Amino acid sequence: MPYYLRAGTVPPKRHTVHHLIDGGLAYEEVIGEEGFAGAASLLYHRGVPSAMIDARPWDLGDLKTQPNSPLRPLHLRLGDLFPGDAYAALDAVRGRRLVLGNADVRICYVVAGLPSPLYSNATGDECVYVQAGRARLESVFGALDVHPGDYVIIPRATIHRWLPTGPEEGPAEPLRLYCVEASSHITHPRRHLSRSGQFLEGSPITERDLRPVRGPLLAEPAVADEPADVYVKQRTAHGVVGTRVTHAHHPFDVEGWDGYLYPYAFNIADYQPVTGRIHQPPPAHQVLEGHNFVMCNFVPRPLDYHPDAIPLPYYHSNVDSDEVIFYSGGDYTARRGTGIGVESLTLHPSGHSHGPQVAAYQQANGTTETDELAVMIDTFNPLEIGEGGMAADDGRYAWSWSGTGPDGPLPPLDD
Ligand SMILES: [Fe+2]
Repeated sequence: MPYYLRAGTVPPKRHTVHHLIDGGLAYEEVIGEEGFAGAASLLYHRGVPSAMIDARPWDLGDLKTQPNSPLRPLHLRLGDLFPGDAYAALDAVRGRRLVLGNADVRICYVVAGLPSPLYSNATGDECVYVQAGRARLESVFGALDVHPGDYVIIPRATIHRWLPTGPEEGPAEPLRLYCVEASSHITHPRRHLSRSGQFLEGSPITERDLRPVRGPLLAEPAVADEPADVYVKQRTAHGVVGTRVTHAHHPFDVEGWDGYLYPYAFNIADYQPVTGRIHQPPPAHQVLEGHNFVMCNFVPRPLDYHPDAIPLPYYHSNVDSDEVIFYSGGDYTARRGTGIGVESLTLHPSGHSHGPQVAAYQQANGTTETDELAVMIDTFNPLEIGEGGMAADDGRYAWSWSGTGPDGPLPPLDD
């Protein structure tokens, strides 16, 4: 999406003869969105990209969801889904646990220590937020090193894999990924872009913040001509299903490509926040959007500077959306007393009002800055709860504003 790129060698004219480094004829492939009417890239392969020799089912595990009924705000402790060294046996693709989802988006979490297999999500674009750890993302377009705070945007059906790389020094660190799997494309907000697609003055992110893959990337000679499995997710009328496709040769065989479609990353630390004299609503903090959902982020910033400002969110009821916040870092003053911390996820569904904890609201005036770091998704259709969400539910968040639940006063927490 972001802008035109070229890697390796491509012919001067599309759809014309192009010779590979060894003199052979390149196999041209167009990967395009919206039929032939959207963003696209043209790739020049050493082998035929559609050459497959097998296709078998890939069991995606439990992707069932259940309604949030009886209707409650939820606090999900995502870190608890991966205790101890569980990550050592998991990769960033097959280890994902479904937390929340609907027909438009699936929100998953994974803590991984193993290289993933080759993977292609044909259901839609992915936005993977790197909570912790480092990795090298390898794809048919090229490779990209990612680190904490990165949003990694991977276009639909891009064959890629995640290789945890750990820190440059010190002990290995698992890769902790907050995965947003859309059923659509994920783009920057239209209002941040000019008619020709350039980021406008005032946009919180601009082209200089984007880090595209560096290509081309070719498989090691020892495996280049060997069959290679690619794990594919696809849409069906019965939900998302998986297929393990065996390609006749390794798909990393692209000597050159050009176009507007490729994986890229940008870091949340490069997001320039909007501040105001009084509280700015979440749309001021939008960063991305997909069909029927938007993504915003809350980053360290000076707070509202009107002398009587209450520099916290007012109580609000988003009657047309479910609101999901992933807490990535910083101190969550507004939620003190709830147990919310790093790797918490809250769901504030349509149908309930929500806002700060009472003591925080009463004491907020005069606060001048925040170090909070959080990623928010607002969905315009109700979210249901996946198996990971059920397992991570703290069971008490809904009663945290009153301090009293069905069983009486809530026992205190240690935060
Ligand atoms: Fe909210």
